[in-house]
Amino acid sequence: MVDPLKIPQHIAIIMDGNGRWAKQRGLPRIAGHREGAESLRAVLRACIELGVKYLTVYAFSTENWRRPKAEVDFLLDLFALTIDRETDELIDNQIKVNYLGDLSKFPKELQAKMAGAMERTKKGTRITFNIMVNYGGRAELVESVNQIIGARDKGQGAKVTEEEIQEHLYTRGMPDPDLLIRTASELRVSNFLLWQIAYSEIYVTDLCWPDFRKEALCEAVAAYQRRLRKFGQTEEQVSAA
Ligand code: IPE
Ligand code: IPE
Ligand code: MG
Repeated sequence: MVDPLKIPQHIAIIMDGNGRWAKQRGLPRIAGHREGAESLRAVLRACIELGVKYLTVYAFSTENWRRPKAEVDFLLDLFALTIDRETDELIDNQIKVNYLGDLSKFPKELQAKMAGAMERTKKGTRITFNIMVNYGGRAELVESVNQIIGARDKGQGAKVTEEEIQEHLYTRGMPDPDLLIRTASELRVSNFLLWQIAYSEIYVTDLCWPDFRKEALCEAVAAYQRRLRKFGQTEEQVSAA
């Protein structure tokens, strides 16, 4: 089903539907988040088996602060708990983890845990695992442009280039996602990786995130492999290349 010669190098995922998964079972929303963490473990391991080199997941958006405080607190506790529980295993499996987003809004203790996990896993070479937290695509672009103009001398007239913007994103130095997966049916981007997904293949599934495991990932990759990526060219040009 999956062609081992056409594995996407970078997969990005909008992990959605935890709340709906729980509701369908008469459980509180937080039960969905807890089960969603299990999906993430399974999908990360499946990505390594397939040979994916970058996995980028949307764990908390700049807009998610608008949720009830109890749910936000639960999510932040879940991030901390997962770091405590799983960092050793990430190191053993040579996984490099990055927490990307505006981390300054998180409690100091959580910031320290995130920094510790990044430091301890920084030598990992099998896969780069980006967890986007307090992340917003618009905020990332604004920050990128501000860094560029902040580093310039006053009155310097040169125009900002695409390369410069790219070099100041959280994902600097990484290839753009080949495949963007969104679970739980929604046909929107919700402020995720606005710049980086310019040419990503988009795959939306009805499965809620807690139900999305290895088999579902392989199905998404197989669907991706049936697509023709044209990058603006004609079908004939792409087939000839
Ligand atoms: C995704 O699931 C997890 C986060 C956004 C943190 P949701 O919590 O958005 O689940 P639904 O969309 O309400 O079902
Ligand atoms: C996007 O999901 C954010 C994450 C998956 C972390 P949301 O559930 O917050 O998105 P909307 O509100 O349905 O667009
Ligand atoms: Mg949602």
